[in-house]
Amino acid sequence: MCGIIGYCGPKPMANVLVEALKRMEYRGYDSAGIAVRSGSELTVIKRAGKIAALREAVPAEIPGDCGIGHTRWATHGGVTDHNAHPHLDASGKVAVVHNGIIENYAVLREKLSADGVEFKSETDSEVIAHLIGRLYEGDLTATVQQVVQLLKGTYGIAVLHIDEPGTVVGARNGSPLVLGIGEHEMFLASDVTAILGHTKQAIYLEDGEVVTVTADEYRTTDLNDRKIDKNIQIINWELEEIEKGGYQHYMEKEIFEQPDSITRAMQGRLDHENATGHLGGLNMTKKELLDLERVKIIAAGTSYYAGLVASYLIESIARIPCTVELAAEVRYRNPIVERNSVYFAVSQSGETADTLYAMRELQRKGARVLGICNVVGASIPRESDGGVYIHSGPEIAVASTKAFTSQLTALYIFTLLIARMRHMSLEEGTRFVQALEEVPERVSEVLQSAPAIAELARKYHSARSFLFLGRGINYPVAFEGALKLKEISYIHAEGYSAAEVKHGPIALIGPETPSLFLVPDDALREKVISNMKEVQARDGRVIAVCVEGDHEVAALADDVIMVPKVHELMYPFVMTVPLQLFAYYTALELGRNVDQPRNLAKSVTVE
Ligand code: M6R
Repeated sequence: MCGIIGYCGPKPMANVLVEALKRMEYRGYDSAGIAVRSGSELTVIKRAGKIAALREAVPAEIPGDCGIGHTRWATHGGVTDHNAHPHLDASGKVAVVHNGIIENYAVLREKLSADGVEFKSETDSEVIAHLIGRLYEGDLTATVQQVVQLLKGTYGIAVLHIDEPGTVVGARNGSPLVLGIGEHEMFLASDVTAILGHTKQAIYLEDGEVVTVTADEYRTTDLNDRKIDKNIQIINWELEEIEKGGYQHYMEKEIFEQPDSITRAMQGRLDHENATGHLGGLNMTKKELLDLERVKIIAAGTSYYAGLVASYLIESIARIPCTVELAAEVRYRNPIVERNSVYFAVSQSGETADTLYAMRELQRKGARVLGICNVVGASIPRESDGGVYIHSGPEIAVASTKAFTSQLTALYIFTLLIARMRHMSLEEGTRFVQALEEVPERVSEVLQSAPAIAELARKYHSARSFLFLGRGINYPVAFEGALKLKEISYIHAEGYSAAEVKHGPIALIGPETPSLFLVPDDALREKVISNMKEVQARDGRVIAVCVEGDHEVAALADDVIMVPKVHELMYPFVMTVPLQLFAYYTALELGRNVDQPRNLAKSVTVE
């Protein structure tokens, strides 16, 4: 959600902090601030609005030996300068930035207020600064260790104190915090994108850990000050990957990267000779895979829709029952963990609180949970019992695109693996492998339709509401298309089974509400065409995404987007990409902030 940064080192403070916040702006973008320590001075600058507003307010040079910064996604208190972080204690000597939610803040605030503390903000976070200020007795690390034990909820914090030159203390519980180790400089950040321009050496903190950082040293401990030795990991992303690389928006870049990102997700994972998948990270024996009786998928948002597509595939070709559930619902309904089952926690960021907490609850009940994640070293892959990295590279735009098709790729390979252990013949397996390997090429072809799709967006951008309709394995693709459109264009959109429209949603149909039908040349094509006709009979405008050469559908629909013919199980890949483009160009037409749509944040680390 929010992004936090801490820095100890010789580089110009203002620049390092503001640039790091800019890199993390996708985590939250309603306000931002920095605090820099120098001698007996604490320079604090905070602004409501984007990082650009903060940048304007920050002088080019702020002398200092350490600093912290924050970019906010508001939870407690509106978007104001006062509510922006860092927050100070009453003496003005302590500055704190916080990512997460302090659940017992109201009780703490009441007690502090009763003791005469005056609060300057409406945030939950400010209590941390006051507690540290009141309990400080000359050792910031010890005070942080003590204070976090009073907190209930989640936090990633970075703290500095005027009396502790060149020192930042960080702590984590449920919100990510990574230490970046440079040459005579150290960083603390919510994610590695903030530090990638400075160092590739990182240490990921675990819940219950505290780190004390100076320019040349770091010390990691538990809450009782017992030293913890941590492994340094090398960040495997390149700086160029987090730049826009000539594209107007990250989302555009990420859509166009898909032929490469899908290829990376399958690299080294297809065994041609045996026509099967090879996924080393699953940590499952052949027998365990063979004994599988149930696959369950938990996720949120776009990752949930990837799971839904996979459930169709798993049941149809591996013949194993598969259920998909919103992670937020799993945790609180006392889930039943069945024998011989495996769970997948699907998450681009690997930090989504709903998914992470559901995963922990399942693990407590004895479930084996595998992660399908993009961000290496994030909480879900670290805490899972195994899994698959999708290697999409950094996904910066808030709307997830390339992660979706790479999640599909990983889940398709897993399905191939277990299908080949069961009913799937060598010939069928070979056809599946070939079809999957052709996907990047076919996606490249779809991307060539971008100008035509931009034209359609010009024609339809003033619609008030959209229906996205598909069937079978492409039914979840309709959900994903609707989500993309609503989150970045703010046009209301719903995904439905094309068959379901006549059971209610057809009441919405009229010239104001166009429908986008997914019409692959699969077994359900005729049925979908009938559903299209039902909509047209009620003056509904229809855009059809159909297969090149499908003259019948082209003649029926008001507008068409053609996709290449593929193996019938590969349509979710080629049908998704035009929907991403349609959402992107529609949002452009409407002048929306494509990469940072209103009210959203990339990584949702609160429940
Ligand atoms: O990082 P995750 O895949 O766990 O994120 C899940 C959702 O928050 C995410 O997919 C969200 O729905 C995106 N904004 C969709 O574009």
